[in-house]
Amino acid sequence: MAIVRFKGYGQAEVPVGTSILVAAQKIEAPEGYACGGVCACSTCHVYVHKGAELLSEKEDEEEDILDKAFDVRASSRLGCQSVIERDGEIEVEITRESLEAYENEHPEARGKYTKRAG
Ligand code: FES
Repeated sequence: MAIVRFKGYGQAEVPVGTSILVAAQKIEAPEGYACGGVCACSTCHVYVHKGAELLSEKEDEEEDILDKAFDVRASSRLGCQSVIERDGEIEVEITRESLEAYENEHPEARGKYTKRAG
């Protein structure tokens, strides 16, 4: 099993083959997913602070989508395209862009997470 820690939102224990987005959903961490996880938006944008080497390689499609994302960094990944390939510990920060998207998709959560993120 791999452990995925979401900064500020707890951790998920998931088997190899799970994406970061699915791991977030398992613990109801507020990661957006406007396109439903098919690499067509950038709302699942996260920063991988630790364990990036345990994840699947970035494909061209992911790079193309990340080109349109906000505040892209060297550690940026799309949660839906980052599949865990080996056991270990992964630390992830959900981007503001992703928190906002999550709130848009979940009206009951509006303002809850983006305020916290500052
Ligand atoms: S959920 Fe749309 S690209 Fe990941």
